[in-house]
Amino acid sequence: MGQKLDPMKEVLGTLGANGGLHCFINGLLNPGKELVTFEPMFPMYLDHIDLAGGRLRSVPLNIKDNKWTFNPDDLYNAFSQPDASVFLFNSPHNPTGKVFTKQEMELISDMLDDFPHIKVISDEVYSFLPFDGAEHHYFATIGNNWERTVSLFSGGKLFNCTGWKVGWAIGPQPLIHLGAIVTSAVYYCFNHPGQVGVANSLDKAFSKDFKEVNGKSVSYSEDVKNLFESNRNYLDKALREMPLPFKPLHCEGGYFLIADISECRHLIPERYLKTHDYQLPEHGPKTNSYPLNMPDGRIPLDLAFCRWMACENGVVMMPNSFFYKPGSPHTTENYVRMAICKERPGIETAIERLKLVKNNH
Ligand SMILES: Cc1ncc(COP(=O)(O)O)c(C=O)c1O
Repeated sequence: MGQKLDPMKEVLGTLGANGGLHCFINGLLNPGKELVTFEPMFPMYLDHIDLAGGRLRSVPLNIKDNKWTFNPDDLYNAFSQPDASVFLFNSPHNPTGKVFTKQEMELISDMLDDFPHIKVISDEVYSFLPFDGAEHHYFATIGNNWERTVSLFSGGKLFNCTGWKVGWAIGPQPLIHLGAIVTSAVYYCFNHPGQVGVANSLDKAFSKDFKEVNGKSVSYSEDVKNLFESNRNYLDKALREMPLPFKPLHCEGGYFLIADISECRHLIPERYLKTHDYQLPEHGPKTNSYPLNMPDGRIPLDLAFCRWMACENGVVMMPNSFFYKPGSPHTTENYVRMAICKERPGIETAIERLKLVKNNH
């Protein structure tokens, strides 16, 4: 980040990045105030905002020319609201796979200059995963962002061990202090052996001597990125070649790829579209089904699609509508999220199963 940090004042270990989100959202967002973020979003944001007694003010990301984009006027308008007090930024972005460009970040940073009371939480858990040679830009290093930004990172994401729950926050002392107060109240300290393990591995993750690939030395983090990027390429191509009418969207980074399933409606058995009580006895013991609806009360197409895929075709995907606040006017239902953060054989098995689906129709 190009900063000389005081580890006692400007760095805080957190119980995963999610623990960091909890502590900084609660530390920075007062009851009744608004947190501005892009929608769709990592759904845990909503619970932390609720617990803080705050409100979400979302700005939609929309698809334009196969890319997720935002309208700068919408964002400026959100920042202008009298209760706006925290901006939560995430790049590479979950679930869309969008990697914000440096120009987009500069634009946002310039806007924030007009609202000096707004503090920023920058969720950078996928910082090591921008694809296609793109560089990761730390939001805190853009423009005047340093003094207003806390950046969150995740050892679980970096080392593919999310269950370890070791994260860390970096930022100016007055902001770190506020998160630290909540940390002390909520979990006080966490998983010390995990912290030592992650700390000892951090330098190694980025040192070039992990492996030789085609005569080139690569680091562990590059090796993971190369795997996920080649999974992205493989999945994108396989979905395009499939008789099922999937349309993968371009994924610029992170753990996930989004596909457009809007032309798959006719394949989904009616009951998945009509009821949340969709499981048949042959699907095994009933699971609790999350009764998510579109603002007009319908079951979202993507949810029906994912239930059908999981129950009858053995492939688990996430409905993109799950990444919106329930009832949000921005909710979309045409997209599903697929994981590329896996070893290749699992993805190949999923593709083989998807090929069978078309054959059955
Ligand atoms: C955008 C985003 N932020 C934070 C987290 C939580 O990270 P951790 O596993 O370190 O708690 C996730 C995990 O899915 C995520 O996707």
